[in-house]
Amino acid sequence: MNKFLSFLSIITYATAAAAADAACQAKPADDDACPQLHIFGARETTTPQGFGSTKTLIDMLIKTFPGTTAEEIVYPAAGGKEYGASVGAGIAAVVRQTATFAARCPDAVIIMHGYSQGAQIMDDAFCGGPDMPSINSTASLVSETTTKNVAAIILMGNPRHVDGLPFNVGNATAGGFAARPKTFSCPEFEDRIQAYCDSPDPFCSNGTSPETHQGYGKEYGKDALVFIVSRLIV
Ligand SMILES: *[C@@H]1O[C@H](CO)[C@@H](O)[C@H](O)[C@H]1NC(C)=O
Ligand SMILES: *[C@@H]1O[C@H](CO)[C@@H](O)[C@H](O)[C@H]1NC(C)=O
Ligand SMILES: *[C@@H]1O[C@H](CO)[C@@H](O)[C@H](O)[C@H]1NC(C)=O
Repeated sequence: MNKFLSFLSIITYATAAAAADAACQAKPADDDACPQLHIFGARETTTPQGFGSTKTLIDMLIKTFPGTTAEEIVYPAAGGKEYGASVGAGIAAVVRQTATFAARCPDAVIIMHGYSQGAQIMDDAFCGGPDMPSINSTASLVSETTTKNVAAIILMGNPRHVDGLPFNVGNATAGGFAARPKTFSCPEFEDRIQAYCDSPDPFCSNGTSPETHQGYGKEYGKDALVFIVSRLIV
């Protein structure tokens, strides 16, 4: 992951940008074309198109690294009978949007952040399925450049949660409603993933507290931010 050493320059960049502003120097226009750091957010079920609950961590990241750009995954985030189709559409959107961005800005570092159903679609897109009825394939679906450029994948309240994975954070022991099999692993990305789930969560575990499910940004946002920084400066 030597690539991310260059991330140190982001900090330098932020400082330099502030100095340039102070000196009232205009930057060349093409400086703005690509960010050094870009975060994708995929929201939870039934929230309107936007960042949903991923906004908490995204705001923290932007505040920490000014100049970071954020992009919402555009997908239905539908529930009920539409859930499987929504996950399928979401996986396709993650694959498409990350590939488009990575092709346009091959030197930018990518961060992924999914919440609930939004975590499920990122999990499936990066680690593969099957996740019926949404996808059959076990292969990772994201582009080669995306695979190379993604530094961290933050999942909160992921219905695919299963106990025992190396990247699990939180005290959930029961799996979510779309739990991975016990034999699941995601070797290519496991050191870049951090997946938060606590036992009172009814969706990533078997609890009864929707508040726990909605509270991960507040509970673990700082922890996730520290993880992201640790993945950037290695
Ligand atoms: C999964 O595979 C079956 C059999 O090949 C096919 O009928 C079905 O459409 C596939 N489903 C998805 C979601 O890819
Ligand atoms: C798990 O963590 C949650 C959130 O911190 C807490 O409310 C709950 O009591 C914990 N449960 C167990 C079994 O430790
Ligand atoms: C949730 O799962 C845990 C671990 O498998 C189990 O000990 C507990 O009894 C389950 N709770 C409910 C309410 O099903």
